[in-house]
Amino acid sequence: MPITDAAAPAPPSPTASDSVPCAGASPLRARPAGPLRGEVTAPGDKSISHRALILGASAVGETTVSGLLEAGDVMATAGALRALGASIERDGGLWRVRGRGVGGLSEPDRVLDMGNSGTGARLLLGLVASHPFISFFSGDASLSARPMRRVIEPLTEMGATVWSRSGARLPLAIRGADDPLPIEHTMAVASAQVKSAILLAGLNTPGCTTVHEPQPTRDHTERMLAHFGAEIVCTERCGGGRTIALTGQPELTGQALAVPGDVSSAAFPLVAALIVPGSRVTITNVGVNPLRTGLLDTLAEMGGRVELANRRDACGEPVADLVAEAGPLRGVEVPAERVPRMIDEFPILAVAAAFAGGATRMTGLAELRVKESDRLAAIVDGLAACGVATESGEDWLVVHGTGGPAAGPVPGGGSVRAHYDHRIAMAFLVLGTAAQEPVGVDDAAAISTSFPRFVPLMTAIGAAIGG
Ligand code: S3P
Repeated sequence: MPITDAAAPAPPSPTASDSVPCAGASPLRARPAGPLRGEVTAPGDKSISHRALILGASAVGETTVSGLLEAGDVMATAGALRALGASIERDGGLWRVRGRGVGGLSEPDRVLDMGNSGTGARLLLGLVASHPFISFFSGDASLSARPMRRVIEPLTEMGATVWSRSGARLPLAIRGADDPLPIEHTMAVASAQVKSAILLAGLNTPGCTTVHEPQPTRDHTERMLAHFGAEIVCTERCGGGRTIALTGQPELTGQALAVPGDVSSAAFPLVAALIVPGSRVTITNVGVNPLRTGLLDTLAEMGGRVELANRRDACGEPVADLVAEAGPLRGVEVPAERVPRMIDEFPILAVAAAFAGGATRMTGLAELRVKESDRLAAIVDGLAACGVATESGEDWLVVHGTGGPAAGPVPGGGSVRAHYDHRIAMAFLVLGTAAQEPVGVDDAAAISTSFPRFVPLMTAIGAAIGG
């Protein structure tokens, strides 16, 4: 029987006060701004950046990476991979990774501190699970509250041994298997991190490691493994699922990679352009992998004017420029099966929904409870502070938009707790850019984990965000 994370007693989620020391808090405030205009480039894709470093470290020879996201989460993964024996250096605008080959990592002589990064922690747990040495993983208060049973259970089945804190949380120690076993695993939760952890463990495992996904999740690991020369077969299953079969112990060869811009980061200036009257903003070089673009589909259904121009391919990933223009939005129903394709975009979708006419209904949101914060609660509280009515349950949310003819514009004027969650902080700063009154965020420091240049980029298109 699969062990689910729900079985673990949930610790209290970190609050703004225990996730960051008050002395280090950096409050930000967004004031209502005039039309947003201009052309900007989104920062590198966080998911693809982690994978570029991890597969570069697992390949033979040199991998070069352009467009790597230089932000806290990815730098934590780089630091951990160095401790595992890879060489990773910045060389001008390029990153150079000298890999150790599949199975070639060595025991780290220090604790691997993954900071705020769930992706870094879970993917690297998978990578080391098939290496016969011990590693210690730690993270910040937010990461230490996040469920790890979902990776521990399949990695243990492959032969790894894990000693974790109660509730299967970080800090933890893992000893990789001497003789890893290939498994056939059916996903209990729709999670690209869990899928990727198993596939990365399968890299140094003889035989075929197979993952069945009832709901497809982002497939960057699969695409990049194929790009590096692994034998990996993805089969669509009836009912919409996928099966991924990886042949273990391939020889991966170093590649020249170009990381596209992150659609999850582009979402913030994009929605800002849709809700600030008179705006028109272009965001260039954005990754538009269909398993990441659920927000674009939803915004289109809401009547949002977003054009995908100049479509092209970069190292096996589809890329386009996004052109967004302000206009009226209407409330919609977001189908639960779309959730994995936009799992990180609910904070900013909720902001767009606040400006729409009518209600936006979202279901299947249970995973939002275990992200960098309890995002469902953070969205509800933040919208309430800004004068927007919601209804919510354990895994659903209804946002009552103020954009209808009978209602007034979003009031704003509130002070929002970010709970050390980058996407909550950025979403509410976008809300403040379009609301009637300024919106304050208690601590925006977490923005540096994924989008360190968020404030200058927003300022460049005309937003008024400052301390
Ligand atoms: C990610 C997968 C998603 C997403 C996270 C990045 C990845 O997490 O929320 O920001 O890079 O694989 P889950 O796999 O837990 O849904």
